[in-house]
Amino acid sequence: MASWQRTHTCGDLRETHVGQVATLNGWVNTYRSYNDQIFIDLRDRYGITQVVIEGDHPELFPAGQEIRNEWVLSVHGRVRERVEGKHNPKLATGDVEVVADALTILNRCPTPPFEVMSIPQEPGTFNDPESANEDLRLQYRFLDLRRPTLQRKLAMRHRLNKVIRDNLDAQGFLELETPLLGRSTPEGARDYLVPSRVFPGQWFALPQSPQIYKQLLMVAGYDKYFQIAHCLRDEDLRADRQPEFMQLDLEMSFVEMDDVFCVIEKLMADVFQRCLGLTIATPFPRLQYADVMLRYGSDKPDLRFGMEIVDVTSIARRSTFKVFLDAIANGAVVRGLNAKGAADKFSNTDLKPGGKLSEYVAQYGAKGLAWFKVDKGKLTSSLEKFFDAALLDELGRAMGAENGDVLLFVADKPDVAAQALGNLRVHLANQLKLFDPEARDFQIAWVIDFPSFIWDDEEKRWAANHHPFTAPMDEDLPKLESDSGSVRAKAYDLVLNGYEVGGGSIRIHNPEVQARLFKVLGMTDEQARARFGFLLDALKYGAPPHGGIALGLDRLTMLLTGTANIRDTIAFPKNQKARDLMTGAPAAVDRKQLKELGL
Ligand code: AMO
Ligand code: AMP
Repeated sequence: MASWQRTHTCGDLRETHVGQVATLNGWVNTYRSYNDQIFIDLRDRYGITQVVIEGDHPELFPAGQEIRNEWVLSVHGRVRERVEGKHNPKLATGDVEVVADALTILNRCPTPPFEVMSIPQEPGTFNDPESANEDLRLQYRFLDLRRPTLQRKLAMRHRLNKVIRDNLDAQGFLELETPLLGRSTPEGARDYLVPSRVFPGQWFALPQSPQIYKQLLMVAGYDKYFQIAHCLRDEDLRADRQPEFMQLDLEMSFVEMDDVFCVIEKLMADVFQRCLGLTIATPFPRLQYADVMLRYGSDKPDLRFGMEIVDVTSIARRSTFKVFLDAIANGAVVRGLNAKGAADKFSNTDLKPGGKLSEYVAQYGAKGLAWFKVDKGKLTSSLEKFFDAALLDELGRAMGAENGDVLLFVADKPDVAAQALGNLRVHLANQLKLFDPEARDFQIAWVIDFPSFIWDDEEKRWAANHHPFTAPMDEDLPKLESDSGSVRAKAYDLVLNGYEVGGGSIRIHNPEVQARLFKVLGMTDEQARARFGFLLDALKYGAPPHGGIALGLDRLTMLLTGTANIRDTIAFPKNQKARDLMTGAPAAVDRKQLKELGL
């Protein structure tokens, strides 16, 4: 062991070590220089320890005075109790300090472009305001990653992966890898393509998911497979999306939906127990897609609060309000939600056309926002005159109206009304503090009974709501062609606090059903063969009934660590424009490389 190498980490030392000698290695978190003493807070990923250079070692002062933040040091010294009044209960090592006998500067660091970390606040947690602009932090990601909040998130990621491996191993799953260089997969986003040097003009596609390979593993008899898989999708990014992300990908043979649910419920209970020490109730509630779209205006409802959407079309139809009547005549629905006790939070200016709330729903295509306030047991609004007293009463009852409430309504096509009100519901819940984002409240549920197909208005044809290998419900098979829109899929999403953390399905293992489905999607046999021929062939060679799911691990880590920013859960993420600001990728390459590739 070299003389500078550590005997303890910066998080180890306690009162029980007083009197012992120790060598610490770490980064200078802060320093305070006085004439007779220099204090250095030395940091590594385990914690922070205060180091003191004192008068009985004058030879250490020149080096001590030179030291700056983020320099790398080795300090050898004796552990002593801090003086009375200087104990720091906010630090795990706060009762002790190390008095230096020797100090080695292992490396220097220029002034960092942003403060890596400031003063410790409480045991185990640190105040590191994310003051610097995120692009700058991404450019210097290696410094940003020194921050304890990010280190804790990545440690949670590690824990999650570990629990997944332990749990699925115990449930009899095999962890198997599938290729990155392969054929285009059917998840429906744009592919990242890789040119072949050996076959000029031909391309590999990076996997959007291991979907096809995992189905082939079932044909091959592997029965229970999982993988912590890299997935790549060239799609528009959002706060919970990255072009490169990780899935827990899983597939099982001889199963129906309940079997997949059971495996995932066991796994998730273990994840919450071992990652957060929380017991979550199983089985998870199962919510129907049509029902959640109606009540929450979203297929990934946040169930931490109520404020459900109510359909009042049948009441609105009996009013004389032309906007509602014309809309209903054109196929619109009228739906609303009750912002309980919020009457004094929104002025009439906020509510009227052009006001804050109308503008909010306008983003989602709503043409207006009608409102009533409830005062002295009565609904009041500029629209009051279009409703007789009995109808107002009925509207109030339908909405559960009480004094001080605001009722908000959108008349529009069902999907627009759902989207506008679903987003408004979450927006208002945040504003009205209907849930505590800091509380460890995890509301998890399955969403089931998705439609198999969605109508593509541009292309004037049915499109697969999931991928085209998703099995329709057995009882809906007879109407596959005749009433495609009402066919439900054996597909399911796992939703947690307003996020879709997973999705999967039972697959089609019957070649005839697969052929019928491709036909509904307007795909000719040749087109289907050209895209998925090898899978269709394999399915003919004795495919077992099978199904599976994939969980988004970055999203799950977001939820476990309470961040709304997916980039905080990934060591080296891309920014919002899918660029790696640290390495500068994507970047130009040599002409020679392009030539070799025939480009
Ligand atoms: P799906 O496309 O629904 O299903 O993906 C499964 C889960 O992966 C996560 N996810 C993402 N996370 C971060 N960034 C992204 N761009 C991103 N896209 C998806 C979500 C999502 O629920 N092969 C199927 C699964 C199956 O049928 O078994 C699939 O990939 O949490
Ligand atoms: P107007 O007739 O444009 O003066 O609108 C009267 C009220 O009805 C305003 O509060 C509008 O925001 C609201 N409104 C207009 N269109 C809709 C709609 N499609 N859904 C709900 N409210 C609407």
